[in-house]
Amino acid sequence: MSGQNVNTPPSLYPVPEAFAAQAYIGSRQAYDQLCAEAQKDHESYWARLAREFLSWKQPFTKVLDSSNAPFYKWFDDGLINASYNCLDRNVEAGLGDKVAIIFEADDGKVTRYTYKELLEKVSRLANALKAQGVKKGDRVVLYLPMSVEGVVAMQACARIGATHSVVFGGFSAQSLRDRIEDAGAVLVITADEQLRGGKALPLKAIVDEALAMGGCESIRQVIVFQRTGGNIQMQAGRDVWLHDVLAQQSAECPPEFVSAEHPLFLLYTSGSTGKPKGVQHSTGGYLLHAALTTKWTFDLKPDDVFWCTADIGWVTGHTYVAYGPLALGGTQIVFEGVPTYPDASRFWRMIESHQVTIFYTAPTAIRALIKAAETNEAVHPRKFNLTSLRLLGTVGEPINPAAWEWYHREIGGGRCPIVDTFWQTETGGHMITPLPGAHALKPGSCTLPFPGIDAAVVDEAGKEVPWGQGGVLVVRKPWPSMIRTIWGDPERFKKSYYPADFGGQYYLAGDGAIRDAETGYFTITGRIDDVLNVSGHRMGTMEIESALVSHPLVAEAAVVGRPDDLTGEAICAFVVLKRPRPTGDEAKQLANELRNHVAQEIGPIAKPKDIRFGDNLPKTRSGKIMRRLLRVIAKGEDVTQDTSTLENPAILDQLAQSN
Ligand code: PRX
Repeated sequence: MSGQNVNTPPSLYPVPEAFAAQAYIGSRQAYDQLCAEAQKDHESYWARLAREFLSWKQPFTKVLDSSNAPFYKWFDDGLINASYNCLDRNVEAGLGDKVAIIFEADDGKVTRYTYKELLEKVSRLANALKAQGVKKGDRVVLYLPMSVEGVVAMQACARIGATHSVVFGGFSAQSLRDRIEDAGAVLVITADEQLRGGKALPLKAIVDEALAMGGCESIRQVIVFQRTGGNIQMQAGRDVWLHDVLAQQSAECPPEFVSAEHPLFLLYTSGSTGKPKGVQHSTGGYLLHAALTTKWTFDLKPDDVFWCTADIGWVTGHTYVAYGPLALGGTQIVFEGVPTYPDASRFWRMIESHQVTIFYTAPTAIRALIKAAETNEAVHPRKFNLTSLRLLGTVGEPINPAAWEWYHREIGGGRCPIVDTFWQTETGGHMITPLPGAHALKPGSCTLPFPGIDAAVVDEAGKEVPWGQGGVLVVRKPWPSMIRTIWGDPERFKKSYYPADFGGQYYLAGDGAIRDAETGYFTITGRIDDVLNVSGHRMGTMEIESALVSHPLVAEAAVVGRPDDLTGEAICAFVVLKRPRPTGDEAKQLANELRNHVAQEIGPIAKPKDIRFGDNLPKTRSGKIMRRLLRVIAKGEDVTQDTSTLENPAILDQLAQSN
């Protein structure tokens, strides 16, 4: 793994001494020791941590079961409950009156919830689910705003052994329907509306629309959280109010202890082909990594105020809002709104008012706030007192060094380390990340693997490439929080993550990477498949293409990404209509219509930024679309590659000029 001992080259930001002195993992040596322990005996290392970090109803006797690889099992015969580990055991340890969540609403109203209060809310909802006949292993879909109720709903499912599947509140009725059907969910928990940036946006109405589309006959009930009091339809016999069901239930609900391998949740994410896949996570292994990474990567201490800005609709909101901080008995912020409302100083104002000590957000947000601060002094972070901060983090996409430097200087006051955490929905938690008391930092690099994660950069044959040479990122050994399967499609799981061309042995992340020639630090070079990353949101080009061709006017569509200063990547669609190619105002109008159509099919986050119309698409003689050339055109660059294999080279000029 880390192997060599490196001195800090001058281009690196050394670990601040004051930080190292108080950190759990306070030196490079301490990190190397943990790596060596894992290297020596991978299973014993993970077993030790699973015993230290989690409370088991029944201890496991077997650590890793590889008999049906790559369907690995961890701690399989151990019995555990995630909600017990996040709530009851903190209350039992005397933290009942400690604030677990500081909720700040879109309009600025603040509400605090102690561990005891959270446990009561979770128990009431868990009882309500049971009263509805929801049983261990049943799937429950959550379509909720960023809210305490969202966290409570996840924990309530975990408490009774139901498997939750959170669908981000920005997805369309069609996307919601597809996920409900694929998961075969029995119940939906939603809200009347969500409030974001001063605007009320529908949720329940979208659930109604999704359920009316058909294919969701497995749904027996819809529980509705009244957030805004907006006007909605309640269907008798199916829909009930959350406050009504809670009022009827007892505040005590014994947790259902399940096997460590029991599916805690499904979370749908995009792949390079086909429809979104339901990534299935375990209970024990997942929770271990959630707790462990929260402690070591974020150095979370009992008196910290932790704030991860991710929505619970994404994996970051699962691991670092709903589970990790609670498993450690931490105090965290849950924020309903957006960083630009009422103005672009919202984050800085909240850090100051809540005395946040650890702040974790996405590069896209940082870039947008830099831009706002440059043009409006009133929202510049220097107007706020951010001295409570001691650690910063980023996630979801590569952070460009200029944004890193700004974050470090303007938000961290030059004193806070930044953890650039690389991971994925499938990995459950951090994979490659600095440990802030151990690693000197290099802007744009996620540095080194988390202890026990055997990450490597390999060539097509699965052989490790020398430092300084780019390749494909793999994880050579299984780890506890890894994806278990794709819900209902084990073959796709094997093909996507353990393809035969890498020997079928290694987990294929789907990203390219390069290790620094001097330090061995990893830098992620971006996806190697047809997955785009727009504002840290993951989207498959095929999904967007399917959405486009489902429009009656569209004959063919190809979607590629192009670099974008603000969103990292932008979606660029090339479209051939069933009628003559439109130009001028007609093209603009049709492009808008298609954008709205994609929003209907998938959600507003999938709207293409550019839509270009052509008479055709560049294809090889065998009919394959040349996406490589489309990427060049999307960037606005001249095509310099050999185009002699193209069926119709003239189309390139037309597409280049069609912007
Ligand atoms: O391409 C990598 C990028 O985001 C992908 C995973 O997306 P998702 O499953 O939605 O999870 C995002 C939150 C964990 C990865 O394959 N990515 C994630 N973190 C980083 C990153 N790219 C560069 N640096 C990161 N820190």
